[in-house]
This record gives sequence, structure tokens and C-alpha cells, in this order.
Amino acid sequence: MTTAVIGTGFVGGTLGRAFARAGIPTVFGSRHPEDGSVAGSSGAEVVSVGAAVQSAGTLVLTQPAAAVEDFLRRYGDALAGRLVVDATNDVGRPVAHKAREVAKYAPGARYARAFNTLGGENFADPRFDGIAADLFFSAPVDDRAAVEELIAAVGLRPMYVGEGQEDVVDGVLRLWFALAVGQGHGRELAFRTLSRP
Ligand SMILES: NC(=O)c1ccc[n+]([C@@H]2O[C@H](COP(=O)([O-])OP(=O)(O)OC[C@H]3O[C@@H](n4cnc5c(N)ncnc54)[C@H](OP(=O)(O)O)[C@@H]3O)[C@@H](O)[C@H]2O)c1
Repeated sequence: MTTAVIGTGFVGGTLGRAFARAGIPTVFGSRHPEDGSVAGSSGAEVVSVGAAVQSAGTLVLTQPAAAVEDFLRRYGDALAGRLVVDATNDVGRPVAHKAREVAKYAPGARYARAFNTLGGENFADPRFDGIAADLFFSAPVDDRAAVEELIAAVGLRPMYVGEGQEDVVDGVLRLWFALAVGQGHGRELAFRTLSRP
């Protein structure tokens, strides 16, 4: 099944190239599909946003948060039956995710929250002293494996938080900002969960 990455900027480009290089059929949905440069040598295709929505079972949203509602108004009906993975952050707002907007404009879509809790540098280079960082995510139980495949394709270790747990995931986002920016540790900062069997 094809995965569409909507947006070809820093995060979208990094994720889409990693998915394609890992062998996941990937398209980029872009406002300027004539420029295929974001794909590099990954093998991903760059198409219009509408074509990407139509072709994919899973869509990873990587637009600016301010552009998400317009996207959902336009493509909400077409998203029925598809999985929307929300990587967007409405930074500075009380709620950073778009779960409510997806439910409102695309009631037939399924919603997951992932790829939003770390600076994009860590999607490009996810290992620290040879150890993969964790990526915390929320998704419907039946979509867990599909999101884990995307996370593993980037080289991160998937850490499932549960279904409908986007607010918990966004707690990790706030922790990342508090440490990376607030406490000056820098953007090359990530998390790894320790547990005993
Ligand atoms: N930067 C990070 O470290 C980071 C980490 C995690 C999550 N995020 C979140 O991920 C999202 C993308 O961040 P980014 O740093 O990748 O941003 P970016 O480099 O500016 O890329 C955003 C992309 O969204 C597309 N887009 C669609 N509508 C747009 C519009 N109205 N204005 C501008 N671009 C539009 C553009 O691709 P086309 O021109 O191809 O359409 C653009 O390249 C944001 O919501 C951000 O909060 C960022």
C-alpha cells in the first residue's frame, strides 16, 4: 500500500526519502509536483496533493499547522477509509495536534499521531552512540503495525502509547522543547525508554 507524504519541506522530505529507501511505496504530495528534487535518489514520486491523496492508504501530514485545516476542508471526503498520520505541530497553541480537525472534516479517516515529538534532525540521524532513539506514537490498535513500519523505516524505535493518546504523545513534544530549547540542550536530543522484562 502506498504512503503519501503531504509537504516536501524539512520533515516531509526527510521522512519520505527514508520511507522510500526502506522499500515502502512512497509518493510526495506537493503544491509544485513539477519539482521532483525532494525525492533525490530515493525512488519516491512527486505528484500533486490531490493525486497523492487518491493513491495512498496512509497519509503523513507534514505541512505547517496553519495549512492543515485548508487541506482537510478540501480533501476530507477523499480521506475516508485512509489513515492520517499527523506530524504537524501548532506550536504555542494549547493543543498542537489536529485530531479534532481530522474528526470534523474527515470523519471517515483514521487518525494517528507520530513524527512530531523530536526535531527533524533526529529523523535524519536517529542513532545516539549506536542506539536508536524511541519515537512515541498513538494510533488505532489495528493501525499500530503500519505506523511502526514507517517509524522503523526512519531508523527510530517505535514506542506505542495507545489508541487516542495524542495528548500523551504531545506531552513528549513539550518535554522535548523544554529540554532542547528551554534548557539549551540543543535540537539533537531524543529519548530512549528503559524497562525490565
Ligand atoms: N522542523 C522540525 O524539526 C519539526 C519536527 C516535527 C514536526 N514538525 C512539524 O512538521 C511540519 C513541517 O515542518 P517543516 O519544518 O518540515 O516545515 P517546512 O520545511 O516549511 O515544510 C512544510 C511543507 O509543507 C508544504 N505546504 C503546504 N501548504 C503550505 C503552506 N500554506 N505554506 C507553506 N508550506 C506549505 C510545503 O511543501 P510543498 O511546497 O511541496 O507543498 C512545505 O515544504 C510543521 O507542522 C511542524 O510543526 C517540524
